[in-house]
Amino acid sequence: MRLVETKEALRAALREAWRDGRTIGFVPTMGYLHDGHLTLVDAARRENDLVVVSIFVNPLQFGPKEDFERYPRDVDRDLRLLADHHVDVVYHPSVADMYPSAPRVMLRSGAMAEVLCGRSRPGHFDGVLTVVAKLFHRVRPTRAYFGQKDAQQLALIQQMVRDLDFAVEIVPVPTVREADGLAMSSRNVYLSPEERAEAPVLFAALSWAEAEVAAGERRVGALVDGVRSRIAAKPSARIDYVELVRYPSLEPYAREAMLQPGDTALLAAAVYFGRARLIDNVLLTVEASGRAVG
Ligand code: PAF
Repeated sequence: MRLVETKEALRAALREAWRDGRTIGFVPTMGYLHDGHLTLVDAARRENDLVVVSIFVNPLQFGPKEDFERYPRDVDRDLRLLADHHVDVVYHPSVADMYPSAPRVMLRSGAMAEVLCGRSRPGHFDGVLTVVAKLFHRVRPTRAYFGQKDAQQLALIQQMVRDLDFAVEIVPVPTVREADGLAMSSRNVYLSPEERAEAPVLFAALSWAEAEVAAGERRVGALVDGVRSRIAAKPSARIDYVELVRYPSLEPYAREAMLQPGDTALLAAAVYFGRARLIDNVLLTVEASGRAVG
């Protein structure tokens, strides 16, 4: 496994693979890796000749009051895990390598970022799309792997690839969970034992809604309210949002709306447990016949 820290060294490491037309699977990360990331890496390993992982905590996607400085980092541990998972190249750039000067031109994520996390974190997805676009240019991957836990990020990156003609296939990978349902996240490390004990309510509440839809519930307001009240019952939970939007367009449903036959909807939530802001989601698909398929 090669560790490279500059775009020149990355180019030198990938030049032959580009020349020989070898397939490159790319997993962009912010490090502090867990089994969710490693599942992406394993999928990339199975499907490509070469696997490249980037580790970069991207300042552009953090708001001024967010956790950029204290975002968990442990690069030595990350490198050991990536070597165990047979990664070929790890790109770990500095902020100066990624942004030699403050970017004056950035991607704009537009209306798809006006809901869910984009509403609570203004500018976040502009920062995500800008760094992902730069990484795609630097790595020139055949395929890039993203977790479905970050469903809005995934939908925006798929849209960016379509709208701006990036020659990369985006591969979505299902969310990896702890045994009690909590979605794996680098931010789980912020949870106190009490908060950790209550955090599984997030997925439990979303799963309740999924079962309700399977049983015939179609009222958007009832689903959102039911999820909210289940989460709010936990003393350490502070809800940022619970929202139901069409997927993958991310157009919001009106509160009074009903899910319709043929709809695919994203039910997503962000909840603070102490200082950890955790997100999770489920996709609700109502068959054209009107039957819910989960
Ligand atoms: O999902 C993440 O870890 C980040 O948003 C990403 C895609 C690596 C961009 O910084």
